[in-house]
Amino acid sequence: MFSAATYAARRAELCRRIGKGVILIPGNWEAPYNYPNNAYHFRQDGTFIYYFGLTLPQFVGVIDCQTGEATIFGNDVTVDDIIWMGPQPTVADLSAQVGVRKSFPLSALAPYIESVVKSGVEIHYLPPYRGQTTLLLCSLLGKTPEEVYRDKSVELMFAVAGMREVKSAEEIEAMERAFHIGYAMHTTAMKMCRAGVVEREIAGAIEGVALSYGGGLSFTSIVSQHGETLHNHNYDGVLENGKLLLVDAGGESVENYCSDHTRTYPVSGKFTDRQRDIYNIVLAAHQQSPANMKAGAMYMEEVHRKALVILAEGLRGVGLINGSAEDAVAAGAMYLFMPHGLSHGMGIDVHDCEGMGERSYDFSAIAERAAQEATCVHRATWRLRAGTVMSNEPGIYFIPALIDKSRSEGLYRGIVNYDKLDSYRDFGGIRIEDDVIVTESGGVVIGGDKKIPVTVEELEAVVGK
Ligand code: GLY
Ligand code: MN
Repeated sequence: MFSAATYAARRAELCRRIGKGVILIPGNWEAPYNYPNNAYHFRQDGTFIYYFGLTLPQFVGVIDCQTGEATIFGNDVTVDDIIWMGPQPTVADLSAQVGVRKSFPLSALAPYIESVVKSGVEIHYLPPYRGQTTLLLCSLLGKTPEEVYRDKSVELMFAVAGMREVKSAEEIEAMERAFHIGYAMHTTAMKMCRAGVVEREIAGAIEGVALSYGGGLSFTSIVSQHGETLHNHNYDGVLENGKLLLVDAGGESVENYCSDHTRTYPVSGKFTDRQRDIYNIVLAAHQQSPANMKAGAMYMEEVHRKALVILAEGLRGVGLINGSAEDAVAAGAMYLFMPHGLSHGMGIDVHDCEGMGERSYDFSAIAERAAQEATCVHRATWRLRAGTVMSNEPGIYFIPALIDKSRSEGLYRGIVNYDKLDSYRDFGGIRIEDDVIVTESGGVVIGGDKKIPVTVEELEAVVGK
């Protein structure tokens, strides 16, 4: 947790940006796994963490923009709770730690919101991404789930994203701590990698590293010899010489700041010529992209697209693409090889601020607003700011189903060399990922001089050793 002054300053700035009305920020509730008292690992909502700092379940924060006053609603534990959870600080004590002077039990929240609604003062809230939060908002606001979603505050979405995506020095320090957890996770995986090991042994070991160094995983690890499946959470594979292992994994610092790194390396510890050729194409895009991550750059055109051109250039070099790299990118042919974005925001959430945007929200209705605000909530219109942290994750994947579909639909004819591509059907996929801080002059990779092994030589020196 940061100082009370940090949270107070953030809330004051949010009030300044929103101007009027009441801002309602629900924290997360416990999410039961199979019965109420057996819950998933608790993860607080990122926006609640940012403005209210508390990482315990069942709190709601309110900020009145008229007065600038913040209130936390939550229940003190009872003796029954203490039997199971041990003694806990009071809600008033917890609130004081984050600079909030007023706190009330949860039962006071509904009457408070009702009085705000009756007075005609606008209530700002973010689009919920969890069912429990949707139900809470429905009951507080007297709306159906569809109405809750429809009436979300677009002003609040962009104000929150605009603040969260520019990191302060203390946030960057927390992200550096998350990097060190990621470093330990990835180097552990590299050393364990050898034929006969089951993917889940590595997945389990690195999850243990994340927990022992900090707050646990920042997302479900991907440990797979099927790197062409972008989010592959199956760990049944037994490692085989000749195959590539892709590990995409990150940890959270104890302050809930995240890291997200990917490395891909040969199970045998030695790249084949073909694996090295494709690897070095991805590495070129990975190494050249941070220079494009400058304050003011438009993400899609100046960062993502330029990385695709580097990848296309490399694929041309190995005969998988004909004609110019620019033409291949313009034709959309790189979707066949990298059907995902180069970057996403990083911070308290591993896809920072996407709880209120990207795939969960239809931006067509507010396209102009999204372009004007240009935050990471909508990557298509994202303008980078100094202090933003973003992933840099180029990849090349050979996805048989996608290759077959494109070919049968006659897509990218004359550009993609489908006959040659057929010989890569069982290649798998390669992704290389680090986290980068945007500055005025370009991106700085988090971790400083300490780098997770990334070149062919560095990987061959550590894998299986
Ligand atoms: N590391 C998983 C992702 O970026 O989606
Ligand atoms: Mn990522």
